Amino acid sequence: MLIRRAKKEDYPAFAAIEAEHPGYPAWGEKGFAAEEKNPNSVTLAAELDGRAAGFINFWILRPQVQLNTLAVGRAFLRRGAASALLGKLLEYAAKSACREIDLEVNERNAAAIALYRARGFEQVGKRPKFYNNTDAALLLRKVLPRA
Ligand SMILES: CC(C)(COP(=O)(O)OP(=O)(O)OC[C@H]1O[C@@H](n2cnc3c(N)ncnc32)[C@H](O)[C@@H]1OP(=O)(O)O)[C@@H](O)C(=O)NCCC(=O)NCCS
Repeated sequence: MLIRRAKKEDYPAFAAIEAEHPGYPAWGEKGFAAEEKNPNSVTLAAELDGRAAGFINFWILRPQVQLNTLAVGRAFLRRGAASALLGKLLEYAAKSACREIDLEVNERNAAAIALYRARGFEQVGKRPKFYNNTDAALLLRKVLPRA
């Protein structure tokens, strides 16, 4: 598994991954391209079997990191891609002297919630009807120890 900075050529694969997860808020190729203009934004790709298997995007807003989107292609699930992407985010956070990572997750997204809990994220809030005016978002946070 290789975790690397995303390139323009990855965006069609990222959009295809998004399409494999109906209901997941999709950025599309244009959304990923727009992030290139944001100096605080980092998009990483996970490569498995020579293909872009998953992605993550986050903003480094010292002292916080905001995790915006994370998904893995169906063919590559449960092979550690999301864990590896999240691990790399934690490395970026530590190097940037960030103290906490924040994210929102659909309350019904058991897979993602399990992933984040395993990585030490805790619920710090809830936004009712956040997704399509129906599902609530859980606000999860991980606080990093001081270096
Ligand atoms: C959530 C998601 C990113 C996980 O990706 P993944 O690469 O399969 O995750 P990993 O292989 O790194 O799994 C790490 C841990 O997460 C948990 N997990 C992942 N998928 C799970 C599932 N379907 N059910 C329960 N736990 C799950 C497990 O604890 C797992 O560890 P294990 O495999 O040793 O049991 C993937 O299911 C996905 O892309 N979902 C759609 C998009 C999405 O919901 N993104 C989250 C945005 S907040």
